[in-house]
Amino acid sequence: MAEEVTARVSRYVNDGSDQDLRRLLRGAELVAEPARTAFRRAGVQQGWNVIDCGCGPLGGLAVLAEMVGPAGRVVGVDLSQATVQRARAVMSALELGNVEVIAGGLHDLDSAALGGPFDLAFTRLFLMHQPDPVRTLRHIADLLRPGGWLVAHEQLPSPPPRSHPNLEALTGTWDLIYEVLHRNGVPARVVEDLPRSARQAGLEVTAMSGFFGVIDPEVMFELDAASIAALRERGIQLGIAAERIDGLVRDLQAAAKDGGYEWVTSPFFLDLALRKPAARQPR
Ligand SMILES: C[S@@+](CC[C@H](N)C(=O)[O-])C[C@H]1O[C@@H](n2cnc3c(N)ncnc32)[C@H](O)[C@@H]1O
Repeated sequence: MAEEVTARVSRYVNDGSDQDLRRLLRGAELVAEPARTAFRRAGVQQGWNVIDCGCGPLGGLAVLAEMVGPAGRVVGVDLSQATVQRARAVMSALELGNVEVIAGGLHDLDSAALGGPFDLAFTRLFLMHQPDPVRTLRHIADLLRPGGWLVAHEQLPSPPPRSHPNLEALTGTWDLIYEVLHRNGVPARVVEDLPRSARQAGLEVTAMSGFFGVIDPEVMFELDAASIAALRERGIQLGIAAERIDGLVRDLQAAAKDGGYEWVTSPFFLDLALRKPAARQPR
C-alpha cells in the first residue's frame, strides 16, 4: 500500500495536466518524508483513526492514508469550502478511499462530529495561524484517545529560508507572512512557545526535532509567489502596502523562471511529538 500511494502521487506529478495540482503535490512531497518519520516515531499503525487539522488541499492526507492503510481512516478538516472541494478532488484523483474531508472550523467540531476519538492528530502550518494556540491545543487534545498523539510541524520565524544565490525577496516574503499573522491577532512567538502551550493544554512533550526542506527553486519560488498573492487582499486590509506585496510576487516569479538558482530551503520547521496522557489504571 505504502509504495502504491507514493507511486500514484509521483505519476500524478509527472503526468498530470493540472499545473496547479502538480506544483502542490511536488511541494507536499518535499515535506512528506519528515512527516512519515514523525508518524513512524509516534507508532502509527494500519487501522488507526487519524485527523489532519487544517489539511489544506493535500497536507498530510496522502501520507497518512498510506500509513493507516485501507483498514484505517483519515479525516481532514479545513475551514475553507473551496479548499475542501480541492482536497476531495485530489483524494479522488489519487484513489484514496479511506480519506474523508470535512468543511468547518476545527473549534466548532467535537469528537462525535468528526468520528473520534483519534489515535493521532497532525498539524502542519496550522497552529502558527491560531490566535489562541492553548485553546486550539486543548481542543485537539479533546479529540484524542488517552495515550493518543499530536504531531506538530510548524515553522519558526527565524532562521528564515535561504537560497543560493541569495534572493532578497525570499526574506522579504517570510517577513511579510509573519507580519500578516501578527497583525491578524496571532501572538508573537506562537511557534517558539508551542512546547509550553502544549503543556498548558495538558499534553506531554515527548520528542522535539526540526528540519529544513531543500527544494527545487522553481517550485518553491512559485509556491511562495502564490502564497503571498493569496494573502494580498487580507494584507492590504491590515495596512500593508499593495506595492510591497506586488513587488515580492514579481521578484519571486522572475526568480522561478530565471534558472540560475541552485537551491532554496523551506523555513525551519519545529517538529514536536505531543501526547495525551494515558488513562490511569484503576488500583
Ligand atoms: C497554511 S495552510 C496549511 C495546509 C496544510 N496543513 C499543509 O501542510 O499544506 C493552513 C490551512 O488551515 C486552515 N485553517 C486555518 N484555521 C482553521 C480552523 N480554525 N479550522 C479549520 N481549518 C483552519 C486554512 O483554511 C488553511 O487551508
